[in-house]
Amino acid sequence: MIREIGIGLAGFGTVGAGVFLNLEKNRALLRERIGRDLIVRKIAVKDPSKKRPVSLPPALLAANWRELLDDPAVQVVVELMGGIEEPRELILEAIRRGKIVVTGNKALLAEHGAEIFQLATEKRVPVFYEAAVAGGIPIIKAVREAFVANHFLRVRGIINGTSNYILTRMAESGLDFASALAEAQAAGYAEADPTLDVNGWDAGHKAIILASLAYGFWVPSKDVLVEGIESITPGDIRFAAQLGYTIKLLGFIDACLDGSVEVSVQPSLVPDENILASVRGVFNAIAVRGDVVGDALFYGRGAGQDPTASSVISDLADAAVALEAPRDSFGFIPHALYGKLRPADEVVSPFYLRLGVDDKPGVLARIAGVLGEAGIGISSVIQPETNEGELAALVLMIHDAPRGRVLSALQKIRALDCVHGDPALYRVEAAA
Ligand code: NDP
Ligand code: HSE
Repeated sequence: MIREIGIGLAGFGTVGAGVFLNLEKNRALLRERIGRDLIVRKIAVKDPSKKRPVSLPPALLAANWRELLDDPAVQVVVELMGGIEEPRELILEAIRRGKIVVTGNKALLAEHGAEIFQLATEKRVPVFYEAAVAGGIPIIKAVREAFVANHFLRVRGIINGTSNYILTRMAESGLDFASALAEAQAAGYAEADPTLDVNGWDAGHKAIILASLAYGFWVPSKDVLVEGIESITPGDIRFAAQLGYTIKLLGFIDACLDGSVEVSVQPSLVPDENILASVRGVFNAIAVRGDVVGDALFYGRGAGQDPTASSVISDLADAAVALEAPRDSFGFIPHALYGKLRPADEVVSPFYLRLGVDDKPGVLARIAGVLGEAGIGISSVIQPETNEGELAALVLMIHDAPRGRVLSALQKIRALDCVHGDPALYRVEAAA
């Protein structure tokens, strides 16, 4: 007799339904590979009366996630509700009751990971979260297990599918921001509140999780520099292309020479020869550099029903094994190799600066003067032609400089009477 593993699904939206459907679709294969049968015993939703694209036996539905905790036939709780407070309560209580947890909730882990994994370790109950970073790409397993032999020198990546989808559609099809976002929402890529996708915070949460695995400590979200894609204009995309770059929202998780760690998310100009520049649509890519393995690249669908379900089911397979085999690791091992976050203003990089200026002689010299006084060099300038009386766009590529120094110079530049409107300042990534 094959052993049954009882699963309680909290959430039956894009991902929850994907898990249910794919467990059914590949049941025989999973049975052969895992040697156990993964059976969904209960599904908690917010509104059980809601009409759903996937029909379910009514007996499976529960109106309250607490029913999953109370059901002795549920051994593994899968949290796919989204949000913070209720999932936190659910996960902590599941751990207390000895039920293994699987979650895809990056916002929750980034804010409360320390608390959750401390309890998980205390109670010796594993928490799995492969779906929390980069959808279908098994990056958590890779960083935590496959690269255990490595100090991480850096992790860079495109880790939000929605924003990459929007930037790709804007660049390749000339779609406006709102229409591209609507497409991403319709495809099930975006968060319930898509603000987190476009303001960079969904990627920020994932960067915090990756940093916790790579460097062994939880970075407080309030200290992380996170910028989104809302202010990127079609003009920026065109200017970047003219200069040989593609604009991407990049996560930076880098060990610095002084032992501190940079964790940030910033719109960045990626040179076209850098492989990350060619990552299109909902795809994510994460470039990992370890001191033993060297460079490794992970590429795949970063959001959506099936890719994310693939990661959740991989966690379920691990959970099924963990139910019988005692473990020493419960999801996160603190090692605090680099216990300090590098202030974002100290991070040195080249920059792209776009300004709105009067189309008059001497304007470039005044701006270059402010940068020069701050010891900031310009590597190239483009100023497209404008019609008489129109504001001109002035695009400057700035050599390596600390971000804080560039921001102070920018403040002085904005105070010049020849500079108007909001400037754009984006980081420029290296070729490799
Ligand atoms: P959806 O909004 O599509 O689904 C959420 C589900 O949770 C719905 O079924 C909803 O019920 C249920 N729910 C919400 N609140 C409660 C509650 N208080 N009690 C019981 N059920 C509740 O979200 P997704 O499936 O897109 O995302 C789920 C999680 O997975 C999120 O944490 C998200 O960040 C993460 N994730 C999503 C990915 C994606 O591509 N979509 C990829 C990776 C991770 P009802 O159906 O009745 O409204
Ligand atoms: N909203 C997220 C994204 C889902 O677009 O990447 C995957 O985590």
